[in-house]
Amino acid sequence: MTTIHPYPLARVGLIGGGQLGRMIVKAAKRLGCTSVVLDPVEGSPAGQIATRQIVGDYHDAGKIRQLAADCDVLTFELEDIAADTLAELEAEGHPVHPSASVLKVIQDKLTQKRFLQDHGIPTPELEEVLSPELEPFRTFGFPLVQKARRGGYDGRGVAVMVTEAVFDKCLPVPSLIERFVDRAKEIAVLVARSTTGEIKTYPAVEMCMHPGENLLDLLLAPADIDDAVREQAEEIAIRTVEALQGVGIFGVEMFVDKGGRVLVNEVAPRTHNSGHHTIEANVTDQFEQHLRAILGLPLGSTETLSPAAMINLLGMPGESGKPVLRGLDETLSIPGVCLHLYGKAITSPFRKMGHITILDRDIAMAMAKAKALRVRDTIEIGSEDGL
Ligand SMILES: Nc1ncnc2c1ncn2[C@@H]1O[C@H](COP(=O)(O)OP(=O)(O)OP(=O)(O)O)[C@@H](O)[C@H]1O
Ligand SMILES: [Mg+2]
Repeated sequence: MTTIHPYPLARVGLIGGGQLGRMIVKAAKRLGCTSVVLDPVEGSPAGQIATRQIVGDYHDAGKIRQLAADCDVLTFELEDIAADTLAELEAEGHPVHPSASVLKVIQDKLTQKRFLQDHGIPTPELEEVLSPELEPFRTFGFPLVQKARRGGYDGRGVAVMVTEAVFDKCLPVPSLIERFVDRAKEIAVLVARSTTGEIKTYPAVEMCMHPGENLLDLLLAPADIDDAVREQAEEIAIRTVEALQGVGIFGVEMFVDKGGRVLVNEVAPRTHNSGHHTIEANVTDQFEQHLRAILGLPLGSTETLSPAAMINLLGMPGESGKPVLRGLDETLSIPGVCLHLYGKAITSPFRKMGHITILDRDIAMAMAKAKALRVRDTIEIGSEDGL
């Protein structure tokens, strides 16, 4: 039977107006949805292009309620938001995807990892830390990784401790400690699960981290892993999202250890930095897929159209203020370069200002071009006065 939908299809309410939100808003427009964004900063990257922005904090119950009143479905682009308000709204009949209960499990890294363990999903061995003291760390054994239970992102809230000599780096907050995984690779699998239960994965990608910063430096899609690892990773990622009964896109970050064993590091209940390449490199990008999932539409094909490498464009260290783009023409003249800038009015050191996806039939070439962009600093986002 022919389905009939209203048009616009839906009013999407989005908590968070950053780059992920901006790319969700673009997909929403394409798919025939309108969008309202809640973000504390007027003219946020997503707010600039959304139908409307409500200026307010992610924890402001009143503003979240205002957003819900104006929209058919609520979703979010970050985890650090008022989950209790979302739970109340759900109870009052407002669709919220992913659900408040999924968000609550994930918001706290300890709860999240216990949940994964309870569902038989392999993760590094861990222990809760009430207040960081050397003795329990020593008993657990170095090398270890201490993680804040809440509020960490982009490697903030993570302290890698190779030996007890660096114990002074410890985080003075409620946290957990876990085994340092001597890893061969870090990979991620994006999983989309719809309100109907339909589920699809994207091919695993490889994340190369910035040394010392715990920040994504270079992404390769697809990951260079053997079939056994690939199957393990996909199966674990699906099992993770099924266990959560999650609706939307989920980024499942994993380690592959030196023995080829796959362990889940963490789950992001949202679109993910490891899926930016899907805009050009896959039939359906992660942002549209997220909307399809939360609106109960059929999921799109996740098939890869081209291998890709992706780099984040970070604000130059030591420079803050109104951005200036150095080396733009040189960068755009490289075949296969797809540039995305996020419309942020101010740059600061290591701030995510944009990204570049490089398509090439040969992934080694894509990687070489990405590395050349980095090494030669072909493109730089600095500040006008260089300060
Ligand atoms: N158990 C571990 N063993 C080895 N390295 C680890 C471990 N846990 C984390 N790391 C390193 O630290 C990085 C950041 O950790 P994690 O993903 O838990 O933090 P995050 O701040 O939530 O990250 P992001 O927002 O960047 O995804 C990982 O990508 C990895 O490089
Ligand atoms: Mg991470």
